[in-house]
Amino acid sequence: MISQNSIAQVFETARVEEVIGDFVQLKKSGSSFKGLSPFSDERSPSFMVSPVKQIWKDFSSGKGGNAVTFLMEHEHFTYPEAIKYLAKKYNIEIEETERTDEEKEQQDARESLYLVSEYANEYFQKVLHKTDQGKAIGLSYFKERGFTEETIKKFQLGYSLDEWQAFTDDALGKGYNLDFLAATGLTIVKDQKRFDRFKGRVMFPIHSMSGRILGYGGRILTNDKKAAKYLNSPESEIYHKSKVLYGLFFAKQTIAKEDNCYLVEGYTDVIQFYQTGVKNVVSSSGTALSSDQIRLINRLTNNITVLFDGDAAGIRASIRGIDLILEQGMNVKVCMFPDGEDPDSFAKSNTLEEVTEYLTENAKDFIQFKAGLLVKEANNDPIKKAETIREIVNSISKIPDQIKREVYIQECGRIMDISENVLFSTLAQINKKDAQEANKSYKQEQKAFEVVKNVEQPKQKIDIQYELERKIIEILMLYGDKTEQFEDLILKEDEVSGDLVLEPTIHETRVFEKLYLDLQEDEMQFTNEKFKILYYSIIDKLNQDKDFSTKNFINQLDQESASMVTTILMDDEKYNLHDWHRNNIIPKEKEHSVSQLVSQTILSLRCHLIDQKVAEYKNETLNGTSDTHTIIEDVKDYVGLKMLLSRKLGKVIG
Ligand code: CTP
Ligand code: MN
Repeated sequence: MISQNSIAQVFETARVEEVIGDFVQLKKSGSSFKGLSPFSDERSPSFMVSPVKQIWKDFSSGKGGNAVTFLMEHEHFTYPEAIKYLAKKYNIEIEETERTDEEKEQQDARESLYLVSEYANEYFQKVLHKTDQGKAIGLSYFKERGFTEETIKKFQLGYSLDEWQAFTDDALGKGYNLDFLAATGLTIVKDQKRFDRFKGRVMFPIHSMSGRILGYGGRILTNDKKAAKYLNSPESEIYHKSKVLYGLFFAKQTIAKEDNCYLVEGYTDVIQFYQTGVKNVVSSSGTALSSDQIRLINRLTNNITVLFDGDAAGIRASIRGIDLILEQGMNVKVCMFPDGEDPDSFAKSNTLEEVTEYLTENAKDFIQFKAGLLVKEANNDPIKKAETIREIVNSISKIPDQIKREVYIQECGRIMDISENVLFSTLAQINKKDAQEANKSYKQEQKAFEVVKNVEQPKQKIDIQYELERKIIEILMLYGDKTEQFEDLILKEDEVSGDLVLEPTIHETRVFEKLYLDLQEDEMQFTNEKFKILYYSIIDKLNQDKDFSTKNFINQLDQESASMVTTILMDDEKYNLHDWHRNNIIPKEKEHSVSQLVSQTILSLRCHLIDQKVAEYKNETLNGTSDTHTIIEDVKDYVGLKMLLSRKLGKVIG
């Protein structure tokens, strides 16, 4: 664990504009910087960085946060990875909190495996580029396959000499421990003998999402029928096959940007596609796709396109695996290549334009694809057809989203020329038979649907409430700790007329206290759960800290809340960005004092609450649930109050 001290130091030192500046070209714009969004393709900049607030906001994707969240979004780092990256950038020494001996040993061992793997990666590349055998055999093989020098370097391809223990000897000579060489599988230890696992093979290093070497695939170059074409690193403390996707390190940014991931079968498919210019491509490398691997992709996009070889005999088997992707709620497309071609050969012999065109024209929605394929197979055999229907509906039943499921059922009815009713009842059967788990979530979904229906309210009403709650958060973040003079209205009954009147009195108080007390007085409840949590944590923080800082507060929020807060805070910048203000589309009157802003917000909220109350009463009268006479009296009082408030509000605004 990184110590809190180090984390705090990193946050204090890191400047968001410098961190982002390493990835995005930023231009000064007023008090902020702007640039092209790194999360989408765009021509006019919608990406803003505020050095004052130390936050960033991408208006095209809605993402936002601080320096750390930027690295997590853009580089797909985990939190500790982002902290370590920043520590390195700013030369801050990271302090680790005390670990138990066991933890220490385990972590040190894992670190040693990484170090050995990284050393081997340097070594295999050196052998490929610098030795005669490497150049004559390895490098010429890659060139023959059409890989450019740049590609070979990018994917860090290498070569392992055709000698029994050349690598092992070299590594031992450099002081690497045999235990770790064995644990990574780079060296095979048998009795007193040691062998290089990858002897005489070209090397494909397998990277983690953040770029560390986890293992290797080694391809044989001879036509030896007995030896496996590809040899892979065994499972180890650092390499878990089912949790890794080949190429993901290089593809992650493009996957997120293009919002789609191509899934191919092999190492060479990935590399050839990438070289041609289709960079959002990964491979599960010989293993059946696992749900962990799908989850890796799911962090970046909701869309997968699976690419099949033209002659893939095992296509039906692979198709079954695809249900796993549907289960995670992702959209799956499939694309077949012409007979005898695989993604590697196709990309090698076509230009980027041709490949892209082929993919867009031939990628079919998975369910439609499966239905089409099976229908063709079943032909006119009624038993087979029944089986087919069941199989397709089975796939559909994996889709978590109910609406999507229904759309697919309708679609399949059309493709297979069968009534939707039959398909729906088949679906119901499968659901019933299926694991109770699935059944439960289906029911929950239905229930959730009902709840949504019941609480449905006129849209306008929800929006006002939402906007006001949002405004309160904004005020607290920006001015919460300021001390201001407020004119409070004390409600009194006029002694002569008996009317309600508001009498102004002036007093000084901190903004957050004023807001908190007023909201409490009105028994105002936040309807938005997230705003509510934020509200209480801001109030709490302001109550504790003498010098509240927006930046520090955002830093200790979770990613989602941080993003929400930055969205609220960056609204100013958004107007600036689009020049709305200058074009008078949104007139903005910054000149209002903070106290006016606060009072205006509270008054608006009160008006809104009164409107709600009156609406409630109206309902009661309609339903005849209460005595009409008293209701009318109450409503009259409220309307009177509202008029007073409106007048007051008018004064504040005007
Ligand atoms: N694979 C493996 N072990 C094997 C064969 C294949 O691990 N003995 C994995 C490799 O990751 C390989 C993928 O399965 O990339 C696809 O196999 P295949 O289509 O046979 O290989 P290609 O990638 O087409 O390799 P090449 O073009 O070099 O023959
Ligand atoms: Mn191939």
